[in-house]
Amino acid sequence: MRQVIVAGNWKMNTNKAEGEALVAGLKAGLGETSAEVIVFPPFPYLGGIVAAAEGSSIKTGSQDLYIEDNGAYTGEVSTEMLKDVGCSHVLVGHSERRHVLGECNKMVNKKARKGLDDGMKVVLCVGELIEERQAWQMESVLDEQMSWGLAGVSADQMADIMIAYEPVWAIGTGLTATPAQAEEAHLYLRKWLELHYSSEVAENTRILYGGSVKPDNAAELIGQPNVDGALVGGASLKADSFLGIIAGAG
Ligand code: PGA
Repeated sequence: MRQVIVAGNWKMNTNKAEGEALVAGLKAGLGETSAEVIVFPPFPYLGGIVAAAEGSSIKTGSQDLYIEDNGAYTGEVSTEMLKDVGCSHVLVGHSERRHVLGECNKMVNKKARKGLDDGMKVVLCVGELIEERQAWQMESVLDEQMSWGLAGVSADQMADIMIAYEPVWAIGTGLTATPAQAEEAHLYLRKWLELHYSSEVAENTRILYGGSVKPDNAAELIGQPNVDGALVGGASLKADSFLGIIAGAG
């Protein structure tokens, strides 16, 4: 039985006080959820958010990492720094890093492996552009991003990987994939894991859906057999809506 995950990707939003108030609101409203809850705040606020989440089951992750241990890499942040401030998880390959910041599959793979090698839990994001979907290329794009992203990742290390399927056309657009579209892509990804690893890895790996998840569509999306949770952007920035999604996750 895969534990459902509800993760909030705050992107470049909130300030210190807003982020800490958001976590306080989540703590107050969380109650007895069976979901694993993770928030991904901006770098400067990570330590404060870890402290704010103390005494709750809320985990804190970072939105990125760099592939070297330390040294002359101006502007970058290492896994040791992230772990030092209490981060357990990291997002890798988010579509905004791929398509806005120009991050290539090879770098996504290096980041995924660096996170895993250094004991972090890695959320590998994959997803097709609208042109690719319209050209019936969804599966080939997912295959390419999975093959590159997981190159050199062992079956044992897969225990620390979560996949997030985020169709780029659904991110921040209000255009959510239908539950059937999400399920189709997730089933493809699960079969991919079976083919390239094993049925055990396929069975155990959590695959999250991301792209305009809201309280009113979360339950139906997460209710699909191969959807194991949600990676939420906009709707994770208000305690009420994020709690609504967590409630929908069961
Ligand atoms: P959204 O973002 O929920 O605002 O569409 C999802 C994401 O980018 O992870």
